[in-house]
Amino acid sequence: MKPYIYIMTLTLFFFSCTSMEEAKVTSPDKKITVQAGEENGRIYYSISKNNTPVLDKSFLGFTFKTNNFENVHISKVIHSSFSETWEQVWGEEITVDNTYNQMIVSVEESEGLKRKFDIVFRVFDDGIGFRYEFPAQENMKEFTIIDENTEFNFTEAHKSWSIPYGANYYEALYEPKPLNRIDTVSTPLTIETENGLFLAVHEANLTDYASMNLTPQNGTSKLKVYLTPWSTGEKVFMKTPGVTPWRTIIIAGSLGDLLLSRLMLNLNESNRINDTSWIKTGRYIGIWWGMHMEKYTWTTGPKHGAITANVKRYIDFAAKHGFSGVLVEGWNTGWENNWTVEGDKFSFTTAYPDFDLEEVTRYAASKGVSLIGHHETGGATLNYESQMDSAFALYNKYGVSVVKTGYVSPLLDGKERNSSQYGVRHYRKVIETAAKYKIMIDNHEPVMPTGLQRTYPNLMTQEGVRGQEWDAWSTDGGNPPEHTTIIPFTRGLAGPMDFTPGTFLFENPVFPDTRVWTTLAKQLALSVVIYSPQKTAYEMIENYENNPAFEFITSCPTNWSETVVPDAKIGEYVTIARKDRESRNWFIGSITNAEARTLNLGFAFLENGVKYKAKIFRDGKDAHYKTNPYPIEIEEMEITSETNLTIPQAPGGGTAIMLIHPNT
Ligand code: NOJ
Ligand code: CA
Repeated sequence: MKPYIYIMTLTLFFFSCTSMEEAKVTSPDKKITVQAGEENGRIYYSISKNNTPVLDKSFLGFTFKTNNFENVHISKVIHSSFSETWEQVWGEEITVDNTYNQMIVSVEESEGLKRKFDIVFRVFDDGIGFRYEFPAQENMKEFTIIDENTEFNFTEAHKSWSIPYGANYYEALYEPKPLNRIDTVSTPLTIETENGLFLAVHEANLTDYASMNLTPQNGTSKLKVYLTPWSTGEKVFMKTPGVTPWRTIIIAGSLGDLLLSRLMLNLNESNRINDTSWIKTGRYIGIWWGMHMEKYTWTTGPKHGAITANVKRYIDFAAKHGFSGVLVEGWNTGWENNWTVEGDKFSFTTAYPDFDLEEVTRYAASKGVSLIGHHETGGATLNYESQMDSAFALYNKYGVSVVKTGYVSPLLDGKERNSSQYGVRHYRKVIETAAKYKIMIDNHEPVMPTGLQRTYPNLMTQEGVRGQEWDAWSTDGGNPPEHTTIIPFTRGLAGPMDFTPGTFLFENPVFPDTRVWTTLAKQLALSVVIYSPQKTAYEMIENYENNPAFEFITSCPTNWSETVVPDAKIGEYVTIARKDRESRNWFIGSITNAEARTLNLGFAFLENGVKYKAKIFRDGKDAHYKTNPYPIEIEEMEITSETNLTIPQAPGGGTAIMLIHPNT
């Protein structure tokens, strides 16, 4: 991994003004304008792009448990600008440009306690972020937020994609609906406007606050923040000085620009881990799908998957095929308690007697493979927190550097929602503690990601999506083919997704009506389309052996220096091309929904004049996600930046291409 350089260029200048007419700030390219003002003792803002409104007058503010702010006014406005480029430790590209114009609107109570806060707006070329900042002050020390009243007053009932608030762990299907017909939804909320803009409302740097959800007001397209509450109904306990997360709106002219916006990462704090040499992307297999397919059990017994001999078999396979890790679920005691919080007795340091941690990790190391650890908490965070240090220390001692965590329970500790301030505090503690022990995290059943991986790049990947595990056991049949053409533009905007593609066997002996609804070629394409720096090839290893399509899985990198989006339409198709960080090779994934399609692909992103050796994995004759998922054709040819290809895609199908540079 290259050394991490977090600031390459930096410019900063300030100027100040007090005239209220000038409570206005534009993006560096002058296309986006944010205006703030006061009306009847309340503060509002509005946004336009190219002089066309994006948000009409939208009010800001809070309801506190006691001592609400009554009449407020703008006391001061300060403008400044900032520009830097910084490098991602890992990611979809290396360099990120962070250039914005900032406006701090200082607000003060007009009478009484004269308490104050600031609203900080940052306007980038690809959208805006704003947050509330409460400075230390005599008349405001501790306070409780009952509601955040921030509004997003959209000009029309645009088309949008979202999942309902309260869907367990965000594992739900994104639905297209006009804005005025949504219920309370989680963010990211993705919007397509009639005049060709793609917008996404979300948040950045959620650190000690509740997650943001959005509710339309009285059937209109005016959305208001709904914070996930504590079980007692309060939303957030805060102290001064304190800040809220950033409220973010990406404003993009194309789906590609939406997907490539790094606005949310820019609004997180820079890397706090000095030595990042232990943070590495990777690809792993696991004793995992076997449990979901009921071939193995998590708990010890006659069908126990995590037994030393079976794990060694997986380690041998990993070593042979160049996987960096082997995930082992069900290694520790407690699974026999059926994951109930009351009966939770998960130990994170005691192995079942048929799993020898010391021997397995010794064997793995001798083969150049790492064990990927597993901590399923059953949502019992107090039990987990009491063992966390010793659990991470144990793994660290045995050379385990990636741990998958899980929280299968609709409420944490039988009480609090995972997206509440309670949950947010817990997940943050896990990341920070893991960093102390040089452990990378893959968080299942997380709080929705908000870009924290910029600050803690050991937070590698997260679930928080209806992943491919649903195709094992969901009684509604599994994920429909369009699902994967939507999530890159919704949940995917929040950060890497541990979606776990890679099935090679489509029959499901346990739930015959439930299945992975794709072709084999689409499974390969998903490993490019869905970005995750720690990537699972989740199939049981016996189903990979001797299948020529497996070459794509073992060749596809996990860290990229460049990403482009040649073509996409939400819910229909998406094509993504990525350049490997370690070589000059490119990998392309293209997928379609239930419709057959013809992929027309140009290669203008390749180096001019270079002849790449291409291997194309495409749907074979009569392939169909429902009736015939297996046919695949593998074709080799030479490709240059001038080439144009026309490739048929089956219903529920896809195409995966690797392009090997001659000087690799
Ligand atoms: C749910 C996770 O998403 C899945 O990957 C894991 O196997 C189970 N919980 C058990 O921890
Ligand atoms: Ca899950």
